[in-house]
Order: sequence, then C-alpha cells, then structure tokens
Amino acid sequence: MKLKQLESLLGNLQQFDNPKIELEQYPTGAHIASRMLYTAENSFGDVSNKVVADFGCGCGTLGLAATLLDAEHVIGLDVDDESLEIASINAEDLEVEMGLIQCEIKNLRWQGQIVDTVVMNPPFGTRKKGADMEFLSTALKVASQAVYSLHKTTTREHIKRAALRDYGASSAELRYDLPKQYKFHKKKDVDIAVDLWRFVPKPKHESSS
Ligand SMILES: C[S@@+](CC[C@H](N)C(=O)[O-])C[C@H]1O[C@@H](n2cnc3c(N)ncnc32)[C@H](O)[C@@H]1O
Repeated sequence: MKLKQLESLLGNLQQFDNPKIELEQYPTGAHIASRMLYTAENSFGDVSNKVVADFGCGCGTLGLAATLLDAEHVIGLDVDDESLEIASINAEDLEVEMGLIQCEIKNLRWQGQIVDTVVMNPPFGTRKKGADMEFLSTALKVASQAVYSLHKTTTREHIKRAALRDYGASSAELRYDLPKQYKFHKKKDVDIAVDLWRFVPKPKHESSS
C-alpha cells in the first residue's frame, strides 16, 4: 500500500469521543501514524508477516496501520474499554482483524518475547509519573524484533539511558522521519515536540543474564 493511501485511510478513523485526560488520550494523527508504520515496514521489515502489538492502542490507529501493511496478526491493548469499542468499530469499517485486550500495561503477564514488534504512542507520564517508562520496559520484555515508540523530545536522554541500561535494549535509534517542529497536540498548552524511536530488544537469553 502506498503511503498516501495509508494516511488517507487512517485519517478517516473514528477517534476518542470524550478523551480521558487522566489517561492522556490523544490520538496519533494520520500523518505521523502512517509514516511511523511505513518506516517500520519499508526501512526495517518489522510489520508484514509479523505479530505486532499496539500498546495503549486507544482507537486503534497504529495497530490498524499495521494490519493494512499486512501484519500477520495484530493485538491492541488498552485499559479503557470505551476506546477499545471504537477500535473495534474502526477495524470493522476497514474490514481488517485486530485482537483487542483490555488491560493495564504494567499488569501484562505475557511471558517472554511473544510478539515480533510493538508499536506505541504511550502516555507521556504528564498525568501519571512514569507511565511512559512502564510502557517502554514492558514493550522491551515482550518484543523480539523492535519497539517503535513516540516520546517527548525533552525526555530524549532519559529514554535512551533507561532503554539501554535498565530495560534490555541493545540499540536505541532516533528516527527523524517526523517533521522536527511538528505540533503533536492541537491544544496550545500541550504543544510539544516528539521523537520517534526504534529500539531493538536483546534476545531473551542475553537480556536475562
Ligand atoms: C496517547 S494515547 C494513544 C492512543 C493511540 N495509540 C493512538 O496512537 O492514537 C495513550 C493511550 O494509552 C492508554 N493508556 C493510558 N494508560 C494506560 C495503561 N496504564 N495501560 C494501558 N493503556 C493505557 C490510553 O487509554 C490511551 O488510549
């Protein structure tokens, strides 16, 4: 699928009716989401024929992009059942399949690296301190191939250090496909620049040593 077509399909998805501020519910725009998944697929081969998890999937944008790029199986996880309802409607509208699980990411009990790739736009931890790090540490435990994640540019050094030193990433690479000054949020008071990261998890036997 061409990038423009992907962006256009994602642009038609239904988004949060009543965003819950405490859960940092803001959708990833079609522009960013399409480029994030397109890069994952076309630069790294991390999507088609892969098992992909979308952490904090909300209305499903990132996971659905993975289905459109021919992921073998996609699972979206979110704590909020209303968002999962919308994700389910979006999947139906696109005529694609996406598994949906309601759970708190920190309570996920998956054992080992059971998915290939995690894609996520986690809460930045502005409401609940450390929420972004909970997502990142869990993603690096369950993915075998790559974790794609959006983080505030101001947390760049912290994210990199934690991923490499504490969470078992073997590499943490910044991708600059996003326009540098892209305004991520619509509301003025939360306008912030974001980084797109690609983390590579260490193979399990190495990371547990
Ligand atoms: C920034 S939004 C991203 C939504 C969607 N992935 C997207 O890209 O449009 C963060 C999402 O994480 C979910 N979330 C927040 N805290 C969570 C937690 N502890 N466990 C699971 N999901 C959580 C929110 O409900 C919300 O849907």
